[in-house]
Amino acid sequence: MSEEIRFFEVGPRDGLQNEKTILEPASRVEMVEGLVAAGVEDIEIGSFVHPKWVPQMKGTDEVAQKIERKEGVRYWALVPNRKGLKRAMDVGVDHVAVFMSATESHNKKNLNRTREQSLHELGEVIGEARSQGLVVRAYVSTAFGCPFEGEVDFQEVLRIGEELLDSGAEHLSLGDTIGVGSPPEIAEGCRRALQAFGVEKVALHLHDTQGLALANALVAYQQGVRLFDGAVGGMGGCPYAPGAAGNVASEDMINLFRQMDTSVGIKAEAICEVAEWLRDELGFRISGRYCDYWRAHRESGDE
Ligand code: HMG
Ligand code: MG
Repeated sequence: MSEEIRFFEVGPRDGLQNEKTILEPASRVEMVEGLVAAGVEDIEIGSFVHPKWVPQMKGTDEVAQKIERKEGVRYWALVPNRKGLKRAMDVGVDHVAVFMSATESHNKKNLNRTREQSLHELGEVIGEARSQGLVVRAYVSTAFGCPFEGEVDFQEVLRIGEELLDSGAEHLSLGDTIGVGSPPEIAEGCRRALQAFGVEKVALHLHDTQGLALANALVAYQQGVRLFDGAVGGMGGCPYAPGAAGNVASEDMINLFRQMDTSVGIKAEAICEVAEWLRDELGFRISGRYCDYWRAHRESGDE
């Protein structure tokens, strides 16, 4: 089994979408470019959702137009529907992520649709995107617990995931949207998803509500997952999922895999620089641990 990890940075989208302070497009461009300079090769630059639903993501069109694209990097944007896809394609985005929930209540809160409506609508969006040559990722949110319904039947995650893959998504990202999955639950869910779809098709998207995200990443890795999401500084959360904390911090994940001699190809220190700059711009608290460690060693000249 491959030791290589692919890391997928969601900070400029999931990280910023729940912040009180709205970052201007020019700063969002700087953020994306800083993360890419650190070695990130998959990055979500923003979303094309309704600006009334998520005002923080207004201006993603400007971000997409202004970023200086680096060869070998996949720049993704989140789209909820056909209108979002059109907005993305109008500004040259060629990697899009669609999303829906494993549970009915969260899907309605987040997308104003039933799950069956979303499956139908996203099937069309994926088909249209593929016919235009785009690559599509599909999130299945609330895969390990729902803020409204509690426990989730993982069979539903697999059913929805299979439909989205059949429609043409390149891979799934299983979202622990509110960070309630326990290590045994995450391990079992990943085992079943890997068995059903294969390693190339499964990513894990952890929110770190209870400080268990790194443990969950580790058990998922032991099951064979090789694609992990994270957000710089541990920012983020879904505005329509009460109780959702930030994503697992990218720099902590990268450090974890580096400690295990697993190749990630990203400099955790350079991610910390971006996290500190963002903290100063937005006033959030960096929730990961590695930045503190790195800063202490940098200050003592012991890097
Ligand atoms: P709706 O109100 O049902 O929309 O919202 P509609 O289809 O009825 O259309 C109403 C109006 O909105 C129309 O305009 C549309 O054109 C317009 P009007 O004719 O009235 O002038 N509209 C749009 N405008 C701009 N961009 C669009 C768009 N679509 C319609 N894309 C909608 C449905 C999907 C738009 C809304 O529910 C929405 O924007 N939801 C997004 C919520 C969101 O962004 N949540 C956070 C991201 S998901 C997440 O964080 C989880 C994840 O990280 C994984 C995990 O953690 O598990 C991915
Ligand atoms: Mg998320």
